[in-house]
Amino acid sequence: MSETVYITTPIYYVNDVPHLGHAYTTVAADALARWHRSSGRDVRFITGTDEHGQKIERAASARGERPIELADRVVARFRALWEQLHISHDDFIRTTEPRHEASVQSLWSKMAAAGDIVEGAYEGLYCTGCEAYKTDKDLDAQGRCPDHGTKAELLSEPSYFFKLESYRRRLLDHIAAHPDVILPEARRNKVVADLAAPVGDLSISRTSFSWGVPVPGDDAHVMYVWLDALTNYISVLGWPDGEMYARYWSEDARRIHLIGKDILWFHTVYWPCFLMSAQLPMASTVFVHGWWTIEGRKMSKTLGNVVDPGRVAELYGADALRYFLLREVPFGGDGDFSKDALIHRINSDLANDLGNLANRTLAMTGRWCDGVVPETRTDRMAEWDETFERIDAAMEAVQPHKALDAALAWVRSCNKDIDARAPWAAHKEGRFADRDDCLADTLEGVRRACAVLAPFMPVKMQALADKLGLAEPPAVNDQGEWGAALVGNAVTAGDPLFPRIDPDEAPEITTPAEPEPEYIEYDDFTKVELKVGVVLSAAKVEKADRLLHLKVDVGDTEARSIVAGIAEAYAPEDVVGRRVVVVANLAPRKIRGVPSQGMVLASGTGGADLQLVCPDGDPPPGTTVK
Ligand code: MSP
Repeated sequence: MSETVYITTPIYYVNDVPHLGHAYTTVAADALARWHRSSGRDVRFITGTDEHGQKIERAASARGERPIELADRVVARFRALWEQLHISHDDFIRTTEPRHEASVQSLWSKMAAAGDIVEGAYEGLYCTGCEAYKTDKDLDAQGRCPDHGTKAELLSEPSYFFKLESYRRRLLDHIAAHPDVILPEARRNKVVADLAAPVGDLSISRTSFSWGVPVPGDDAHVMYVWLDALTNYISVLGWPDGEMYARYWSEDARRIHLIGKDILWFHTVYWPCFLMSAQLPMASTVFVHGWWTIEGRKMSKTLGNVVDPGRVAELYGADALRYFLLREVPFGGDGDFSKDALIHRINSDLANDLGNLANRTLAMTGRWCDGVVPETRTDRMAEWDETFERIDAAMEAVQPHKALDAALAWVRSCNKDIDARAPWAAHKEGRFADRDDCLADTLEGVRRACAVLAPFMPVKMQALADKLGLAEPPAVNDQGEWGAALVGNAVTAGDPLFPRIDPDEAPEITTPAEPEPEYIEYDDFTKVELKVGVVLSAAKVEKADRLLHLKVDVGDTEARSIVAGIAEAYAPEDVVGRRVVVVANLAPRKIRGVPSQGMVLASGTGGADLQLVCPDGDPPPGTTVK
């Protein structure tokens, strides 16, 4: 068994703020990484963000931002969420970093040197949501993408192509020889079935926009965003150089990508074929998980049921959320998220079973043994060994729900054991040795649960370790002789580990739908004084790429000075002499030190996408617009 483990999440698009789906993959990857670390393996765990492509460029322009500004803002949200959820990644890769861009260009050059990249032209239906070309069979009768509900656009452009088809047989042979490369099995079968038909060549560059990594030697093209994004898994290790790459992407290391089912084809067909072309090893496992619905419905902004994991963590605790996500649903299948299910899990597994076991045992030790863990003449080692084997096997198979199921079965069995041995009765009857055996065995049972649960609930298990008088949760691979680590320790019950939640008092967890539009009265509208203006002069505002300084005649005795954010759409000479519509009674202010005495109206999303609103005909300056 290899002792080096490399674990990745997908890198997340920055056109949207993080939601439950993102948190799911990341929490699963984190628990796995922590498990392997705690088992003594050499682990590297990576996450990051996917920042190029038309989708991001458009999202930024719709907000009047540059793509990098949007990315910086959203990346900060991802980083903050990962901190809040105790994600222990070793590195965070952004596809806009120079280290990544250089690596992607090297991969391109290697593929080109292998003779696998050819020039051509592409015409096809493109879904920007998926950042992928579609065939008719991928779309509904109206030509819409089923995942995004938007119409695919007909694109025609020069493009470089990767000879994907020429690797299809080799890929099928590789999958047949290494069935673990795609897990669970049902996903592998789907990929293998889809690979029965030719896959054609893959368009890997675009010329219709520029927000991407330039193709080496041909700046007119930027690289296809999936080629760019997939390379993150090795760029973050420093490929083509680097000790990290040699250590974690070697044939000897376990290289595990965790992904959601929607990005299966990219990871199990494109990525291995790119790697084959560049003569690099492939991942050892792509593990595919399912999707969460929210109370039975697809998560969507319009439905107003998007779950913000940060808010759930704030209200119910990060560890409770981590536990719920990984326990509730078999990893690989789809699941449904609801407040009721979350509360039920917290109350039954964490408050009733685990919390209660710890609290009552610690309290009895406090009461009868002065809070000092007694010696035991008995043990529950055989049952523990069996439990641990189940948990370990589940984690090896990337089945965290099975690991948690086994860990909680152990907790329940400890509760049963203490009920059967009734230390309270032993105490009453003066059988103090029996009482102490039971308390010490149960505390040891709690300690072992603490070890295997720490990768899932790191903060709560640290709190439990504190109660047990331990510096930290025990490592999963080093649990020692039964009872030895605790005997003589001073322990404290303190506050309950997981307080019960009253379902009737529990706050909502979904982000409400966008609010209804707010209407204004006619009188409000008449407050806005709109006038026709004629632009007399225009000049760029220094150090402000988006601003033009205009002098506009709006019928006053003097021309107005107006600063307008239209410089990305209009050159100064293009606006001089034009009739525009001006908000004439806007309170004057200074913008970048230049006085602005009004506002020029324009339509569009901002940046380069702005069109001046101009009156029909030639009304004289100062004419009222109403
Ligand atoms: N940027 C690409 C991945 C590139 S990896 C080289 C991407 N990003 S994403 O932000 O759209 O999605 C990332 C992950 O979130 C995917 O694994 C996806 O399956 C997961 N999820 C998005 N919504 C989800 C649910 N509702 N439920 C579970 N996971 C979901 O794709």
